[in-house]
Amino acid sequence: MCGIVGYAGSGSAKEMILSGLNALKYRGYDSAGIALVRKGKLLVRKESGKLEALEAKVGGAEFDAPLGIGHTRWATHGAPTRENAHPHVSFDGRVAIVHNGIIENFMELKAELAQKHGIRFVSETDSEVIAHLIALYFEDDLAEAVRKAAKRMHGAYAVAAVSADDAERIVAIRKDAPLIAGLCGEGGLLASDIPALLKYTRDVYLIENDEIVIVTKDSVQIFDEELTRLNRTKTHIDWDAVAAERGGYEHFMMKEIHEQPTGIKETLRHRVDAKKELLLDDLAFTKEELDAVDRIYIVACGTASHAGLVGKPVIEKYARIPVEVDLSSEFRYRNPIVTEHTLVLAISQSGETSDTIEAIREAKRRGAKVLSVVNVKGSSIARESDHVFYSAAGPEIAVASTKAYTTQIVSLYLIALHMGRLRGTVSAADCKKLVEALEQTPALVEKVIKDEKRIRKLAKEHYKKEKIFFVGRGADVATAQEASLKLKEITYINSFAIAAGELKHGTIALITRNVFFFAVATQSYLYEKMLSNIEEMKARKAEIVAVVKEGDKRVKEIADEVFAIPDCGDEIAPIVAVVFFQLFAYHVAKLRGRDIDQPRNLAKSVTVE
Ligand code: F6R
Repeated sequence: MCGIVGYAGSGSAKEMILSGLNALKYRGYDSAGIALVRKGKLLVRKESGKLEALEAKVGGAEFDAPLGIGHTRWATHGAPTRENAHPHVSFDGRVAIVHNGIIENFMELKAELAQKHGIRFVSETDSEVIAHLIALYFEDDLAEAVRKAAKRMHGAYAVAAVSADDAERIVAIRKDAPLIAGLCGEGGLLASDIPALLKYTRDVYLIENDEIVIVTKDSVQIFDEELTRLNRTKTHIDWDAVAAERGGYEHFMMKEIHEQPTGIKETLRHRVDAKKELLLDDLAFTKEELDAVDRIYIVACGTASHAGLVGKPVIEKYARIPVEVDLSSEFRYRNPIVTEHTLVLAISQSGETSDTIEAIREAKRRGAKVLSVVNVKGSSIARESDHVFYSAAGPEIAVASTKAYTTQIVSLYLIALHMGRLRGTVSAADCKKLVEALEQTPALVEKVIKDEKRIRKLAKEHYKKEKIFFVGRGADVATAQEASLKLKEITYINSFAIAAGELKHGTIALITRNVFFFAVATQSYLYEKMLSNIEEMKARKAEIVAVVKEGDKRVKEIADEVFAIPDCGDEIAPIVAVVFFQLFAYHVAKLRGRDIDQPRNLAKSVTVE
């Protein structure tokens, strides 16, 4: 999604900004731009496509400036053209802005600015209105103008503004879009995301909603919406900067697949004692609070929602509370039955997914408590939740989620056990059993990763397929869905996942000779049923690769090929089996020459609706 970087200081603004924008590349973008303030002049350059094109444009010494803002844009309103790229400049050329988010009332504002002030718009974006509004309010104090303009804007925004007429500072404001600021030896910095600043500082101010921040070469000052100065403390970011780089792998996705054993260990670390009892200090809810909960809604998008599907039966089994899994984008609009007895469990890697943020806000308005499983510390969802459980996947850079998914499942299992122990619905012995099984999981995942050669061979055999189906039952439906999503997003192969029992209710009509299926059959209690489904497909001459547990003898009699994951309990199997599918999708994508870490049309965190 879009990235913002600002810099004021003794160094070269263009270098600092471009370095910050480069650190945000992983989020996906389709155009980029920069506004520099130099010797009483505003210099703006923008390009569609890659950052390199912009870098080439501002290479000359005439672009050496002490202050500026930059942006990478992921198109929402308007195509990814140079005109639509940020920064946008006001009608009078005095103000340049960059914006993340959406100005919901931009049509009204645009009409007003055009009719009342005769302003001509040069882009199709909602963001352009911000530049004009600020310019209209701008006398000699940019902060005052930003404050006034923000009062007119509805929606979500992180906006940074600069002007040659107030040349010593960057003024920024946020509402429902992330914004951080910090200081380093060479000056003040501003960004939409932590990785942009990691190279320069680890101590950052997390700007809150409706706060205005002024960044100069030697200060970061935070104000409330009326420009009253606030006293805020910095947050120390303990991410390892090296962890945010590829570490020798060709792609972040491959690196992150390999990091899953560590991510799982980290998620378990400090949360289990020597007796295998849970130590979940992060979840401070009491038995009384939990006993009052009569329903849990899991809300999430994409991969995170698949983790929810795996977690649902496990929470129900151990905590004995009914769980529904809802897509955040559906939940927020469908008038859900949510009361003060509802617990909403949000799952999000980034913690910035707009639909999930809105889903939890809706839940809170209706009196529910919110527990979230989030990977990014200090993210919006984490801050807005009553309780936060951090998955410890570490920074996930590849657009296709891998290690966040497996650590989300582990997190949900720990939450299920914790709830069960509090409510007295799970014995210490059963809790210990699952905890021990979870502790074995990193080694099992490792084993699948070690089988990469075989997976690559399978990918070679099938990478030219134009359509691939995935079927399973029980938790294997979630695995099938996640496998299908991984394949689609990075290979662009048309794929489809369905509960195997549903085939005969319609989809079986598609099965003819050589239609290609992955059949996931890791759930022992559903094994016989899956065998019948596989027979059913085979009878129609489908081509089938079955994914089963080691030791299976019967499937290989029917399926064309079998991939065996290490033998493990049914609850652990979704964490292990998905790794096979991640690697399969990766190798197919590679054979097809795809942009694996940044697939087309996708962004790492979807901060717009
Ligand atoms: C797919 C993928 C997406 C995300 C979804 C939610 O590989 O990454 O489907 O899972 O956009 O994102 P978060 O978890 O950040 O809320």
